[in-house]
This record gives sequence, C-alpha cells and structure tokens, in this order.
Amino acid sequence: MPPFLAGRENETKEFKRIISQTTILENLILTGLRGLGKTVLLETFKPMAIQDGWLWAGTDLSESTSISEDHLATRLLTDLSVVTSSVVVSTTERPMFGLTTKTEQVTAALDYVTLKTTYDQIPGLVSDKLKGILEAVWPLLQRCGKRGVIFAYDEAQNLADHAAKDQYPLSLLLDVFQSLQRKNLPYMLVLTGLPTLFPKLVEARTYAERMFRVIFLDPLTEQETNDAVTRPIKDSKCPVSFSPTSLHTIWEITKGYPYFIQYVCREAYDVWVQNVEDGKTPESIPSDAIMRKLDSDFFAGRWARNTDRQRALLWVISQLPNSESEFAVQEVVEHPANKGLDKAFSGSHVNQMLSALSDAGLIYKNRHGKYSFAVPLLGGFIRRQAV
Ligand SMILES: Nc1ncnc2c1ncn2[C@@H]1O[C@H](COP(=O)(O)OP(=O)(O)OP(=O)(O)O)[C@@H](O)[C@H]1O
Ligand SMILES: [Mg+2]
Repeated sequence: MPPFLAGRENETKEFKRIISQTTILENLILTGLRGLGKTVLLETFKPMAIQDGWLWAGTDLSESTSISEDHLATRLLTDLSVVTSSVVVSTTERPMFGLTTKTEQVTAALDYVTLKTTYDQIPGLVSDKLKGILEAVWPLLQRCGKRGVIFAYDEAQNLADHAAKDQYPLSLLLDVFQSLQRKNLPYMLVLTGLPTLFPKLVEARTYAERMFRVIFLDPLTEQETNDAVTRPIKDSKCPVSFSPTSLHTIWEITKGYPYFIQYVCREAYDVWVQNVEDGKTPESIPSDAIMRKLDSDFFAGRWARNTDRQRALLWVISQLPNSESEFAVQEVVEHPANKGLDKAFSGSHVNQMLSALSDAGLIYKNRHGKYSFAVPLLGGFIRRQAV
C-alpha cells in the first residue's frame, strides 16, 4: 500500500454505490494498464465493504485456477470457506468421553470440509453444484446479519475457457453468478485486471456486457501526483522536501502513472539522502539519470524480447501522434514513418504482428477494434531508442 492513496475519489464513490445495491444488477470490473494502482485500490475497497456488512472472499487468480472447471470450483469453495468457517451452522449435545452423566456441545461450522462434502452430494454438473452450495449457504449467512458475499479476484485476465479441452471455467463463473443474481441472492463479483479482461468476458458470454460496471483507471493528474509525493512527507514529518520544480520534474517523467511515481520517488530519495550525507544541499532531481535507470529496469527487458521486425513496427507506432492513446491499423500503414521503411508494413502484416505483440503483453486490442500500448509510456521509451 502506498503511504497515501492519491486521487481515486470518483472510483471510490462508484464502489460505494455498487455495494449499496440490494438486488445485484451490477458487478464491478476495475481495469487499467500495468502499475496503475488496481491492486491497491481493490485493497482499500475491502475494508469499506466489510464495514458495510459484506463478506469479502478472494485472492489473485493464477493461470492454474483457470485450467479446469473443477479448479475454479475448488477456488471458489476455498475462498468462501475462509470467510464462512467461523459461522456455526449446528450445535449438538453428545455424552462426554468416559462419562455417562455429562454431555458436551459439538458445533459444526461452515468450514471447507463441510462445504466440500455438501458440494459433492449435490447432483449435476459443476455449475449445478456451485449454484446449489451457494444457494444453500446464503440463508445461514443471512441469519448472521450479512448483507452478501463479494468474490474479489485480482489478475482476473488470467481467466480463460479452453474449448480444445472442453473446459469452460470462465463461462462457468459468469453463468453461476448470473444465475444466483437472478434468484436475488447477493453474491457479487469484483474483478480487477489488465484491459484484456472485459473483452475476454464479453467474448465468452455476451451478457457480461450488461453484468459489469467497468471502471477504467487513468493515470493521476498533476495535482494528485503532487499529493502522492508530498502527503507522505508531510504526514510523517520527514525532513526531506521537494521544490515545485522538482515536483514538476516528477510529473514530467511519470505523467501520473503510480508505479513510475513510486519508482522515481525512491530514486529521488536515494539521491537526497546521499547528498545530505555528503554535506550538500540537494537541488534538483537528476531526471536524465533516473530516466536511464527506468529505461533499463522497466522497459529494456520487454524491448529486448522482440524481433527486429517487431521493433520496427513498434517504432512506427511510437511516431503516431496518438500512440499513447489508441490507434487503428490503417493509421500505422499510412504513416510516413512506415512508408519510409525499406520494407514498409502492409495492413495484413500489421494485423498479424499486433496479434503476436498482444500475446507478448505489449499491445492490447480494445472493444472497438483499436489498439493501444499495454505498457504505460512505452512510446516515449521507444522514441529514446535508436532503431
Ligand atoms: N492512487 C495512488 N497513490 C499513490 N500511489 C499509488 C496509487 N495507486 C498505486 N500506487 C502505487 O503504485 C504502485 C503500483 O500499484 P499496483 O500494484 O496497485 O498497480 P496494479 O495496477 O495492480 O499493477 P499490475 O497491473 O502490475 O498488477 C504501487 O507501488 C502502489 O503503492
Ligand atoms: Mg496488481
């Protein structure tokens, strides 16, 4: 967690609205590029939901969760059991060991074994069993005054169906929650992940479009970036301070991307401390040096994995005026930077290569068929390279 979470007021307001639903018509997706603060925002939502009477279950979704429907079911049951294991469902009396006159109370809780035993006894497919167990559990939770259960999954872009193996865990998840919500059972999904997540869900089940409210995280504004840097200093009464010029330098390098803010500030602190230890007064942030370090720590590895042709294409894209927002294949083909290449890219080339670059996590295709860099500020890095 950052010492101070800057901005995100609108997102928080929206989350509060969503958890105030009594009949669940909307689930939530929190999406954005790498390092935009999805995980930390999800973490701040958790206590808010719990305070509001919700149970909060979930973890990171690894690729292995999504191997099969059984894996997914085990994941859901495991996560549910963590929050329900303290709920006592029955109390019985039995004679105390070795004594015929005294009895003791034995309690059964909604722990994993209880959930799994009940689940196994429900007939039908995995989806029938999951719906069955979640339906059966709800009245018990309601009796404890709970408002509902939120299943919150980070890195949910890892979810996938596998038609070749006849395994559809992603569709299963959507089917189960949609069916429960139709029956007015308050089980809600909160998913976070890269921008590929929502298109993936809609591709699996078109109704996913109506099931989710999608919040796309943007970079912080300059003011919010300043807050992210200065508030922790102020709150901890730290002797370090940054001048308005230094703050502006941080903004210029990071453009409000939280991961970069954290990275640049760490470097700046190191320089400040070094200066103070050497008896000097730090004056300005060495932006060139920090930028070079960022290039080699963050971008270089991702860049080195590409072929020469892929780099040439990425370079053309970085020359587009809209390279940091979204672009179409045709714009790449027609740009003078492409036409000036020894071997210019055709439309079908570009399509093919963008698809390979998507698989490599550098590019993503949005719902309107346009493309964007999947890594923040990648265009700037490429323009700094001699291709
Ligand atoms: N609003 C914010 N204010 C200050 N710092 C933030 C904010 N959001 C995120 N950060 C910091 O930025 C970094 C990246 O955040 P986080 O890990 O949540 O991003 P993410 O979107 O989950 O990234 P990934 O896609 O790689 O999982 C963390 O160090 C976090 O503390
Ligand atoms: Mg994350």
